[in-house]
Amino acid sequence: MLITNIKGLVGVHPKEKLVLRGSEMANLPVLENAWLLLEDGLIKDFGTMDTAPSSLLHLSSTIDASGRFVCPSWCDSHTHIVFAAPREEEFVMKIAGKTYEDIAAAGGGILNSARKLELATEDELFESARLRLKDMLKQGTGAVEIKSGYGLTVESELKMLRVIKRLKTAFNIPIKATLLAAHAYPTAYKNDHQGYINLIIDELLPIVAQEHLADYMDAFCEKGFFSVEETDQLLTAAAKHGLKPKIHANQLSVSGGVQIGVKHHAVSVDHLEETDEAVLNTLANADTIATLLPSCSFYLNIPFANARGLLNANAPVALATDYNPGSTPSGNMNFVVSLGCIKLKMLPEEAINATTLNGAAAMELSNEVGSIAIGKKANIFITRAIPSLAFLPYSFGQSQIETVILNGEIYNG
Ligand code: NIG
Ligand code: FE
Repeated sequence: MLITNIKGLVGVHPKEKLVLRGSEMANLPVLENAWLLLEDGLIKDFGTMDTAPSSLLHLSSTIDASGRFVCPSWCDSHTHIVFAAPREEEFVMKIAGKTYEDIAAAGGGILNSARKLELATEDELFESARLRLKDMLKQGTGAVEIKSGYGLTVESELKMLRVIKRLKTAFNIPIKATLLAAHAYPTAYKNDHQGYINLIIDELLPIVAQEHLADYMDAFCEKGFFSVEETDQLLTAAAKHGLKPKIHANQLSVSGGVQIGVKHHAVSVDHLEETDEAVLNTLANADTIATLLPSCSFYLNIPFANARGLLNANAPVALATDYNPGSTPSGNMNFVVSLGCIKLKMLPEEAINATTLNGAAAMELSNEVGSIAIGKKANIFITRAIPSLAFLPYSFGQSQIETVILNGEIYNG
């Protein structure tokens, strides 16, 4: 497939560039008046129209992208899309003034989702997650990470991870799986936290590792959830099974989660709505990616992360959706890019780098996706005819995506 007359081919980073930090993030290379050749599901070549080999221009499957931008697919590195039921009743409680912590304390929140998930069959969970993922792909996402964490028993966590494994087979896009058994203490272990940690370490982790059901280990390191010491134990055990951390840190308080994540060489520390100087300093000198989730802040009405502070500190920043039934019932990366600009004060170039190359890096996939480079997967989207790239985040809430191409083929969902 050949795409011609592209107004701007976005994200033509050198192939060896696998992650961007700090001031590098404002650099989003765009090739104007370009062509792009896709072959065997991969990016085969690209260039400017004046250099297009004439033999190519006779290809039968040519798309004329006049006035349109071509971007690498969004890489959504933090989601919880396997769940049994939405929680819009909590949405209404929040409108009436209850906080996220109030709802959790009243048996809502994660435990509510766990109760429902226990009753759902693997087939039901697969089917509802499949529909969510399809919608995400139609909105431009071409690589995704999915977490467990609504099981909270050995059996139900494994059920979730098996659903993610089936999604990996059903969708021809890169998918990474993360074990998030340490999402909340189940009621049965309310007064025996060490008992639940032992269950994860001694029973669940060995099966997950043996059956290759997860790529990463996550923990909700937060007041009222998992302490720094508990997170430390869990990440130490996960490392023995070859699972690197990607953790929930500093969502509701300065929890110490960033430091413990970096100590364990986490691929990413995610959320960071609450940061202080120590957090910025820790990430300034680490390879760990700061993954910010602005649609979670938007939905919960909690502070937005300090993206500018992180960028000034030279940290690598990614943006993701956090799609889940409790804190972010949306998997729309276009909206995340808009919020990145509007609320996190990131430049459009920074927000797009954060949702493409750095999103890929936060899943250790940036040698495969996240930019336009020869040999990378042909997972891209073509916009409508739009005046400029800044028009994408500017026109918030409105999809400007006209054509989604995955593995070199038009995706119609
Ligand atoms: O990333 N913070 C923890 N986990 C999710 C919310 C989970 C839920 O409320 O169901 C999050 O926001
Ligand atoms: Fe999350």
